[in-house]
Amino acid sequence: MSGVTLRNVKKNFGSVEVIRDVDITIEEGEFCVFVGPSGCGKSTLLRMIAGLEETTSGTIEIGGRIVNDLNPSQRGTAMVFQTYALYPHMTVERNMGFGLLMNGVSKSLVKEKVAKAARILQIEKLLDRKPKQLSGGQRQRVAIGRAIVRDPEVFLFDEPLSNLDAELRVATRLEIAKLHSQLRGATMVYVTHDQVEAMTLADKIVVLRDGRVEQVGAPMDLYNNPANVFVAGFIGSPKMNFVDVNHGQLPDGRVLRLDGPNAASVATIGFRSDSLKPADQGNGMISAKVSVVERLGDAEYVHFQTPWEQELVARFPPEAEVGLDATFEFELSGKIHFFDANGRALANVMLASGAVAKPV
Ligand SMILES: Nc1ncnc2c1ncn2[C@@H]1O[C@H](COP(=O)(O)OP(=O)(O)OP(=O)(O)O)[C@@H](O)[C@H]1O
Ligand SMILES: [Mg+2]
Repeated sequence: MSGVTLRNVKKNFGSVEVIRDVDITIEEGEFCVFVGPSGCGKSTLLRMIAGLEETTSGTIEIGGRIVNDLNPSQRGTAMVFQTYALYPHMTVERNMGFGLLMNGVSKSLVKEKVAKAARILQIEKLLDRKPKQLSGGQRQRVAIGRAIVRDPEVFLFDEPLSNLDAELRVATRLEIAKLHSQLRGATMVYVTHDQVEAMTLADKIVVLRDGRVEQVGAPMDLYNNPANVFVAGFIGSPKMNFVDVNHGQLPDGRVLRLDGPNAASVATIGFRSDSLKPADQGNGMISAKVSVVERLGDAEYVHFQTPWEQELVARFPPEAEVGLDATFEFELSGKIHFFDANGRALANVMLASGAVAKPV
């Protein structure tokens, strides 16, 4: 099995730069997820690794070998597409084995490999069916099976779950996680715009925006220590809350006392829904009015609007009775993130104790 290394990789479509100077190291056996908003270049980058798009400059290395000039079939990768791309007139068995047969692998070996993949994916009973006789989830498993039979060094997945309904998406996500542990040592690169998929599947997440890498790290690294406002807002559900502060001053005139060497550079603070704690009237740091209550069974996400019309969300216990339009005062507790005027995370800042001064 092999790792993948991208060095100074760029891609232009005509005069449009779509991938700008990307450096990524994916270790052998790692499950690496590229995540980012629509159009940020995830599929393009994956297709460049597969050899389906030419690389404008920089090098792509698979298993220590530079593959820029190799055909897709010589790279040791197998790709699973969002649209499955199955042959409609072939049975499941033939869909899975066809590529190998075309490469001259013996019929008996192909049969053996298909049977093994079908066992892993629990589709042994479907081998004689045609794609149109399958559900979306079953088709997706056939597409994954077609990749497995090729024993690739690197699996490449492009949004493989996005055509499935919500329930099946969760079930198939678990199957892909199991598959990764079953195929011990297989390197997987997985593209999604869904940060929950990224958080749940990845050993390593690469957050992309506009053709650039915003941050690379383990899921909990990105969640706990986002490098900038973009990553902070992208990773985690519900989204992180942000409030602009100008030298500690909130838009309503209250002042949060900030301490530490970088306190003067703080332009924005960020905090997750469980950091907003109701405080006694008149003693809070932030006041806000309830706009929407979402009941999830194990918790309530209560959405608020501040007097300066910023949206905040707080996690309340499931039995909390919260009336629309009620006004709450909040304290901030737990982890607070601080960002400068360019949106970069600042270390060495904290809220001073007795952190709020009243507006004058
Ligand atoms: N063949 C092409 N010619 C010109 N521009 C292209 C081509 N393919 C993609 N692009 C552009 O490159 C950018 C990145 O596209 P890409 O498909 O990689 O995005 P993505 O991150 O996979 O988005 P999505 O989540 O919507 O699938 C987009 O702005 C897209 O319009
Ligand atoms: Mg895409």
